[in-house]
Amino acid sequence: MTKRVFIKTYGCQMNVYDSARMAELVAPIGYAPSETATGADLVILNTCHIREKAAEKVFSELGGIRRLKDAMEKRGERMIVAVAGCVAQAEGAEIMRRAPFVDMVFGPQSYHRLPEMVARATRAAGTGILETSFPAEAKFDYLPEPASKSNVSALLTIQEGCDKFCTFCVVPYTRGAEFSRPAAQVIAEARQLVAGGAREITVLGQNVNAYHGEAPDSGEWGLGELLRALTRIPGLQRLRYTTSHPRDVDDALIAAHRDLTQLMPFLHLPVQSGSDRVLAAMNRRHSADDYRRTVQKLREARPDLAFSSDFIVGYPGESDLDFRATLDLVAEIGFAQAYSFKYSPRPATPASAEKQLPEPVKNERLGALQGLLRKQQRAFNDAAVGTTMSVLFERPGRHAGQLVGRSPWLHPVHADAGPERIGEVVLVRIVGVRSNSLTGVVDGVRVAAQ
Ligand code: 5AD
Ligand code: SF4
Repeated sequence: MTKRVFIKTYGCQMNVYDSARMAELVAPIGYAPSETATGADLVILNTCHIREKAAEKVFSELGGIRRLKDAMEKRGERMIVAVAGCVAQAEGAEIMRRAPFVDMVFGPQSYHRLPEMVARATRAAGTGILETSFPAEAKFDYLPEPASKSNVSALLTIQEGCDKFCTFCVVPYTRGAEFSRPAAQVIAEARQLVAGGAREITVLGQNVNAYHGEAPDSGEWGLGELLRALTRIPGLQRLRYTTSHPRDVDDALIAAHRDLTQLMPFLHLPVQSGSDRVLAAMNRRHSADDYRRTVQKLREARPDLAFSSDFIVGYPGESDLDFRATLDLVAEIGFAQAYSFKYSPRPATPASAEKQLPEPVKNERLGALQGLLRKQQRAFNDAAVGTTMSVLFERPGRHAGQLVGRSPWLHPVHADAGPERIGEVVLVRIVGVRSNSLTGVVDGVRVAAQ
């Protein structure tokens, strides 16, 4: 009988990629995907540690999983429970202590050993497996080829870990030192994704534009060179990358934005703060003016480029004046979209030892920033009405006869179209704006690029 695996993913797109690979790893040992934890033989929580709230969710979710596991055991069945991802990496021993019914805990660098761990857990119930080392072998060399069928818009991790050590961030501790996959390996995986139906690929990394992978001939490629090579794959119509660091936007990357029509004109470029004092305290290694200059250069290279960003408010020591500088920067740049967070102290990070700002101050600043960002997002979406944009249709919409796709600027776009158009890039005239998406009418003309 086929067994069932349920994987719940928290956090970033890198976790989404990892979860897909975990599903592929356990398929050959007999596990088919399940939409729910109820009745699943293997449950994997792929967790995120970036902010406190994200980490807390894991322990509350585990409460529910425990009840399901107990219920199965009463029926004489077995549920293997695994905690994976960044909470596992950072708090593995704590999870084992607080939730002893968890069978295995493994970090983002060891999940290629999943089949072996599942086999061990099946043999020896009740003995927890903790696998949070940073193994010497490169995980990517041990992962299976991607499944034969891909999503229209596929994810591909090309870089992992981070050496930047921003003072607020757990990533250097949970994902480890920076590692770039060899370019040939990335290109091979991209080809397989396209062969499986992908028309858009988003290359991923914690610090994706720090990419410096072994080149196919000799030497190293940066992200600019890699993107250029990926555009030569027939059938790959769109490329994106995330998440990038302002410090690592080099000339080759700017040239890629100028030259590559497949590279979509939307860039997530986190700035965190508009205050030089706070940026220095955060160890971001760039000033607000450096960021302005980088944005300007990118806009010169690709005038329709839209920007998205991440912000942290209430970082230790942030004054009213510092916060005002963030609002000024936002007003000046004009973001299509952005994420903003209250500073959340993370274990073992330098900023967590600093004196914290009062919660009401954090709340007030977050409200003010989000108000401004919302206004900018609305203006950006409103400006789309009346224009015609290329949309890559990804899947059926909520209503019959409707498809949902993405514009070059990542707007979700709903339009009436037959299912045969999934995977096609189609010109759509935008006629309306909803809270988080656009509605449009198919123009009927297919375009080759974008
Ligand atoms: N507190 C609040 N936000 C954080 N981020 C990372 N660490 C923290 C933290 N300790 C935010 C940053 C980053 C995004 C992924 O999460 O803005 O860019
Ligand atoms: Fe974290 Fe990004 Fe800074 Fe690296 S560059 S430490 S991933 S915020």
